[in-house]
Amino acid sequence: MGYTLTILGCGVMGQAILSAIYKAPKVTDSKIALLYPTHIIACNHDDASVKQVEDLVKEMGESPNGITVSVTHSRNNEAVSQSSVVLLGTKPYLAEKVLDGVAPEISNKLIISIVAGWTISQLQSYSKKVSRIMTNTPARYGYGCAVVSHSTETSTEDKTLVKELIDRVGTCIELPERNMDAATSLVGSGPAFVLLMLESMTEAGIKMGIPFKESLQCATKVMEGTTKMLELSGQHPSVLKHQVCTPGGTTIAGLCKMEDHGVKSGLINGFQEAADVAAKLGKK
Ligand SMILES: NC(=O)c1ccc[n+]([C@@H]2O[C@H](COP(=O)([O-])OP(=O)(O)OC[C@H]3O[C@@H](n4cnc5c(N)ncnc54)[C@H](OP(=O)(O)O)[C@@H]3O)[C@@H](O)[C@H]2O)c1
Repeated sequence: MGYTLTILGCGVMGQAILSAIYKAPKVTDSKIALLYPTHIIACNHDDASVKQVEDLVKEMGESPNGITVSVTHSRNNEAVSQSSVVLLGTKPYLAEKVLDGVAPEISNKLIISIVAGWTISQLQSYSKKVSRIMTNTPARYGYGCAVVSHSTETSTEDKTLVKELIDRVGTCIELPERNMDAATSLVGSGPAFVLLMLESMTEAGIKMGIPFKESLQCATKVMEGTTKMLELSGQHPSVLKHQVCTPGGTTIAGLCKMEDHGVKSGLINGFQEAADVAAKLGKK
């Protein structure tokens, strides 16, 4: 009963995933409980990064599901051999070195990779069972979005396990791997594009005389409220947008001005550009 999850490279994203799994609310359904590890081994690079994870675990107190954590460095082989699931969380340039170092031990394990640009087929030279994830920085706060693609050899049970674990850091959406470059843009780069919009809204408020603090507060709440309204109403964005447009009113005037400056096509082309760059990175 229970399994060990090894996190190879437990930095910013690895720690976000570790803490989300560790802090998951108590699971009462015995079938779902089996999807959670009983033990997590976090493998890092040196004493300093080990201490960081140890401090994080101490701060979190006891895990509601009784998950225990050990943190090590320079013992990747030993950790992988003790686990059945391995989450790869190193920087892309280190992934090959780290995987080569554990190649014999990892060959039959489920690899969950969050490494940008590493394809399922590249990862399959180490194990046939691969789930590739693209997530984003809001995952650090439990509000991430994650797109997942699985290798054909990944079983239904493994897919369920990955969804349960990754759902802890945000919403996990399954898509074919051919959509990964688009997901890298929409999900991975998306927060930066949304922040540009928030920054612009805040500066617009300041330009019109609202102090910075209140302007940022208004912009943030408008973004949050609009997202919630979209989710809860289930309506198409353009329907909701037109509901705000009084004939001859302020909103339609603002929207037309934005269109004069190509805001919509600028956004679409920006997302496309990020996806094109992601595609090139994957080929390097
Ligand atoms: N950050 C994001 O917002 C984000 C978003 C989407 C996807 N990603 C992807 O997530 C991955 C991790 O990114 P990150 O920002 O979390 O990077 P990070 O903070 O640098 O974490 C990588 C971790 O790997 C450790 N490490 C280095 N060499 C190792 C080795 N030989 N064995 C075991 N561990 C080793 C590092 O330890 P040291 O610190 O001691 O070197 C560090 O703790 C990347 O591939 C990135 O593409 C990140």
